[in-house]
Amino acid sequence: MLSTLGKTRILLTLLCLTATGLFYKSKWSLTDLYSLWPYKLRACNCQKCLTEGEHEYKPLIDASPKPFLSKQTPMSEDDFNWWKKVQREKRPFSFFNETVDKLFTIFPPNPHVLQQSSDRCRTCALVGNSANLKGSHYGQLIDYHDIIIRINRGPTIGYESDVGNRTTHRVMYPESASYLDKNTHLVFFPFKMKDLLWLLNSFAPQKKGQEEAKRRANKDLVMIVNPALMRYSHEIWLKKKGRYPSTGFMTLVLSLQICDEVNVFGFGADKDGNWSHYFEILRNKRLRTGPHAGTQEYEVIHMLDQKEVISLYKGP
Ligand code: C5P
Repeated sequence: MLSTLGKTRILLTLLCLTATGLFYKSKWSLTDLYSLWPYKLRACNCQKCLTEGEHEYKPLIDASPKPFLSKQTPMSEDDFNWWKKVQREKRPFSFFNETVDKLFTIFPPNPHVLQQSSDRCRTCALVGNSANLKGSHYGQLIDYHDIIIRINRGPTIGYESDVGNRTTHRVMYPESASYLDKNTHLVFFPFKMKDLLWLLNSFAPQKKGQEEAKRRANKDLVMIVNPALMRYSHEIWLKKKGRYPSTGFMTLVLSLQICDEVNVFGFGADKDGNWSHYFEILRNKRLRTGPHAGTQEYEVIHMLDQKEVISLYKGP
């Protein structure tokens, strides 16, 4: 006589065999079966991952070029020609490619980006330089993130309670350059060809006998933003408003590619419409938002917040 356990085992085996037979006879693929499985593999381990779910901004996020230049990610000639026009550059595409090749003899050929994974949650604090950070007491909250991206000269010393004191990534270009500690990633924005040459020059190996110059940052942590991201931000996100996007707006667009959760601080003009800073008194009362479409940029950031794609912290 068969025991109940034995009968159950035979029944289960028969069921499995029937299911396998049916699967092979049908036109079903493994993906179809996977779609019936109620427990899907998560894109990340946050409560809500940026790339999960369908929202109106997802196609825009998915249309991004690779955010960083690497040896394997050259820029297309079409993107180069767009970039060239914005800065009135005369030198040809071949010169750009030669420069990039030289850069990758110094910097990591594949910039260090923490990849998305179902067992981690990459939380990012993007900290702009708006005066709306003054008196905000966001410091502790900002420091709590895994990745803390600051822009240009935005200081922390003396402003800790409002802006925090940790920095994992600092965005800069030659005109806004400072010196970084050896643990901070330099996220380099090339607005023009001259910027790439500046980078090359700033990190060029010293000639024999020459005194070692102070380096801007740890060369192993340098990440060069793909200039195609500028065109993408301008055309896809800002619908061609403004001359070109601001560094802060492009950093937001970039963070949608490298983070699972984005919390935005320090964005927004003052009551007169000027992009005043939390760390200085505004002198030029007619600054507005420079050559950038500040209102359009803020509208996009505001909408992303409304649709819960990101969270925008507006200050006190
Ligand atoms: O002024 P700065 O370019 O260093 O600021 C960094 C970024 O922060 C800007 O590119 C802009 O996107 C953002 N910003 C802002 N509102 C301000 C000041 C700056 O949105 N009042």
